[in-house]
Amino acid sequence: MINPLRGMKDLTFDESQRFVHIVTTAIGVAKKYGYHYIETPILEETALFKRSVGESSDIVGKEMYQFEDKGGNDVCMRPEGTAGVVRAFVHAKLDRQPVKQKFYYYGPMFRYERPQKGRLREFHQFGCESFGEGSVYEDFTIITMISQIFSELGIGFDLQINSLGCTTCMPPYKKNLVKFLTEIKDELCEDCNRRIETNPIRVLDCKNKTCQSLLANAPKLITNLCQECDSDFNKLTALLEKAGIEYQVDTNLVRGLDYYNKTAFEFVSNDIGSQSAIAGGGRYDKLVEFLDGKPTPAVGFAIGIERIMELVQMPELQKEGIYLGAMTEDAVEALFPIATAKRKETKVTLEYASKGFKSHMKGADKVSARYCVLIGEDELKNGTVWVKDLESKEERTVLVEEF
Ligand code: HAM
Repeated sequence: MINPLRGMKDLTFDESQRFVHIVTTAIGVAKKYGYHYIETPILEETALFKRSVGESSDIVGKEMYQFEDKGGNDVCMRPEGTAGVVRAFVHAKLDRQPVKQKFYYYGPMFRYERPQKGRLREFHQFGCESFGEGSVYEDFTIITMISQIFSELGIGFDLQINSLGCTTCMPPYKKNLVKFLTEIKDELCEDCNRRIETNPIRVLDCKNKTCQSLLANAPKLITNLCQECDSDFNKLTALLEKAGIEYQVDTNLVRGLDYYNKTAFEFVSNDIGSQSAIAGGGRYDKLVEFLDGKPTPAVGFAIGIERIMELVQMPELQKEGIYLGAMTEDAVEALFPIATAKRKETKVTLEYASKGFKSHMKGADKVSARYCVLIGEDELKNGTVWVKDLESKEERTVLVEEF
């Protein structure tokens, strides 16, 4: 038997139903907010992720499924969706159109991480990217939209937010932070020491307990924001409060991808173990420009589908559609035209083997059909079908044309 690769899994019956329910619910909400579907390739030039997610990030530095294809191109299985969507946006010259554009997508992402509960090497995201709107109102709207998706799926969450500032306030803060980190360098872990050089903001995110306690006194960006970022962040928190969406400000929330500025957020669940982030996102106003497009503000998020699968409350299975069966061999083929006609309006399960009454009733129950429809010798002769409504228990015999 050949097993799936480590960190990858099949989605079989129960899980695949959950998957479809999550995606369908999320699409329903995204459409209400004006988002359109976008599909981008799974395989991209490695340079795309180096330039967007960032060379110093763990995703690019350690986790990429990167290889040379048969044409000698350096390619990579996408570790996330935003970079590809931005590349597609620029490629289609949508950055030159005056209208705001909003896209949703879902599909597999690949990160060569150490697999554990909630952490896969192939996982699926549902994501949204909104282009052309620089107002913090859009950040609020996106957070509202994620809350609506989780509420429709019956999932509780904690929301953590932060501001990562902009090109005015981030550089002087970074300088200050590096100064602080250099002073405590010898006490920080190896990873942090490497990051002081490559990406000092990520040091704040270190999970090492000693580092965390040393970092308690680190300068905080949230108290050093420029006027615009500060005012936007205050607006966002005020809007969340008015809307009754609870949040915590986490000044160490820096996200693992380098393209963010201003608003950054994560939705977390306490019910799924240590890999608790169920969605993450934020603003990335410089990325379109960085990938050779015209300056275009943007904000987006992605939900980790596998992480919320076991949290989802599935709707109760409703009896639905028709079970069609024959009680004599001769009647089997008379079922086909009925099935073809009825499949235009509802789900039809057609049993090819002729069977006794009890067997058919069991079959109809197994597939949760609303109606059990049978043809026996008499029905075949009279051009009728026998119909039982499995909810009301009513039975009747009707002409095929009238069914
Ligand atoms: P991210 O935080 O890296 O953001 O991933 C989003 C979500 O994907 C996480 O919150 C988590 O639920 C899920 N996820 C990440 N890695 C794994 C894994 N190894 N196994 C299972 N689930 C995982 C992004 O990817 C950004 N592109 C989000 C974004 C869109 N920002 C702006 N627009």
